Amino acid sequence: MQIKKVGVIGCGLMGHGIVQVAAQGGCQVVAVETEQKFLDSGLGRIDKSLAKLAEKQVKDGKATQEQATAFVAATKARITGTLDKKALADCDLVVEAIVENLDVKKTLFAELDKLCKPSTIFASNTSSFSIGEMGKASGRPANMVGLHFFNPVQLMKLVEVVRAADTSDEVFSAARSFGEACGKVPVSCKDTPGFVVNRLLVPYMAEAIKMLERGDASAQDIDIAMKLGCGYPMGPIELTDYVGLDTTLSIVEGWVKRYPNDPAFCVPNLLKQKVAEKKLGRKTGEGFYKWEGDKKA
Ligand code: CAA
Ligand code: NAD
Repeated sequence: MQIKKVGVIGCGLMGHGIVQVAAQGGCQVVAVETEQKFLDSGLGRIDKSLAKLAEKQVKDGKATQEQATAFVAATKARITGTLDKKALADCDLVVEAIVENLDVKKTLFAELDKLCKPSTIFASNTSSFSIGEMGKASGRPANMVGLHFFNPVQLMKLVEVVRAADTSDEVFSAARSFGEACGKVPVSCKDTPGFVVNRLLVPYMAEAIKMLERGDASAQDIDIAMKLGCGYPMGPIELTDYVGLDTTLSIVEGWVKRYPNDPAFCVPNLLKQKVAEKKLGRKTGEGFYKWEGDKKA
């Protein structure tokens, strides 16, 4: 089962990066958004990112200027953007990277089942929801798999490949190969809440927010402590801004609703308050910190 044509639904923080690495891996890629302005913004970010990558290749002596320019042009030529999901009909794989809301994702996969050829593999980039439930909603559970990329997709080397109870061996293996073609190291995960990384990372981020809420330490000191004390590239408060406070809230609220007795899952009040104030982190220019583009102000 070879994946040559890929659809990516949602061209936001994660989707634009998935579009880019899939195109760099040699796939034809169709990026789907709900509105032209979101599509333009996602494709614009890819342009900037490819320019940075080309600059770095030349700087590091890995390519000449001509080779880097040709690489950017060839990658861009493999990408098309559209607002029409019908363009996904002949894709070998469709990766969903829309809002972290299980009902919205289930509705999307049910719609895709009617639009896509029978062999199309469906993948979700969900941070926290059950791949098996989405597979059931899609009407083709054997073709459903999790492909969980990490933020920023262009730089993070991992992809979690999630096997649900009904995922076929062929689909799982094709998804792993696709992850490798995107330049990532795949790890196999069961269909458990948060898979491997988020089951460990998100409760830690929530604990850090509760620590801030209690006034035990400032945001800056919590972040410095984890960076210098543990060697992490970002502290947990800055990382929550980087991921998106809305996405983080959806993850923890979903878990608490589903697993109310698991002490690892909680919803910090401060997180709810910030989201209510529309301070969603890097994507809105302010969360726990102020942001200018991809960097803290
Ligand atoms: N393409 C290619 N290269 C790029 C690039 C791009 N788009 N963007 C930047 N680079 C290069 C830069 O040129 C730079 O190269 P040099 O080292 O040669 O100068 C290098 O990559 C590093 O770039 P920056 O200096 O801009 O970045 P940084 O060193 O400050 O690191 C970071 C940024 C990689 C984001 C780092 O801070 C980090 O690893 N943070 C933690 C991220 C993390 O934990 N992500 C997981 C979030 S959780 C998740 O994703 C799961 C979920 O479901 C919520
Ligand atoms: P985002 O808000 O940046 O982007 C979502 C995009 O999807 C938006 O541009 C929106 O217009 C678009 N969209 C929404 N509904 C759509 C639909 N029906 N059809 C087409 N486009 C639609 O969100 P994000 O941070 O990129 O997260 C996307 C998914 O990836 C979520 O499931 C999230 O949990 C997961 N994820 C996020 C991160 C992260 O760090 N932010 C990391 C890994 C996984």
